[in-house]
Amino acid sequence: MYEEIVIIELALWLGLPAWIANSTPVVFGGGAPIDRGKTLSDGRRILGDGKTLRGFIAGVLCGTLTGIVQISIAPLLLPILSNYVVVTVVMEEILLMSVPVVMLLSVGALLGDMIGSFLKRRVGLQSGGPAPVLDQLGFIIAALALASPLIQPSAIYVIVLVSVTLLAHWITNVLGYLLGLKENPW
Ligand code: CTP
Ligand code: MG
Repeated sequence: MYEEIVIIELALWLGLPAWIANSTPVVFGGGAPIDRGKTLSDGRRILGDGKTLRGFIAGVLCGTLTGIVQISIAPLLLPILSNYVVVTVVMEEILLMSVPVVMLLSVGALLGDMIGSFLKRRVGLQSGGPAPVLDQLGFIIAALALASPLIQPSAIYVIVLVSVTLLAHWITNVLGYLLGLKENPW
């Protein structure tokens, strides 16, 4: 029972830098687009106006700073965790992280987001147009992929992280709809 709770907690802990990196550009983004308005031979933008340098930098900085705060409190949490479960190597690796890991998670989240936009433009979707699954999961998968040379969480953490990320999107959308901020609940 405690083991399951700890796995969920650590999956969220691992996802936090990437989530912050992915959501801060909405607040701090804007300004010149990364692709500088350029189009490819298909006549469509490389990335579109939704991907700005300011957003990218803000995302990487906020995600990394979040991770640094996590790294600094992790040693205090370790003894608490070991009161409840036998702390495995993977658990300790996720809890303690490291500055390079949280940087890679943050950069990976933003790169994944850009790759998603690149693909969306190639299939003719306008900036802001919905691409189910890609929009919700692209960033988290790219974050884990980029950090994978330094941190290899076992499959259960990846499964929990992906499920919680999808669930969180769904809950925010339904809430937005119920509060009248969105036109539809998806
Ligand atoms: N944003 C930004 N820079 C980034 C990523 C996001 O400035 N690197 C800001 C933009 O204002 C963007 C908003 O955050 O409109 C929402 O981000 P996102 O949903 O990723 O972009 P979309 O506008 O939906 O564009 P796309 O279809 O390319 O994903
Ligand atoms: Mg979008």
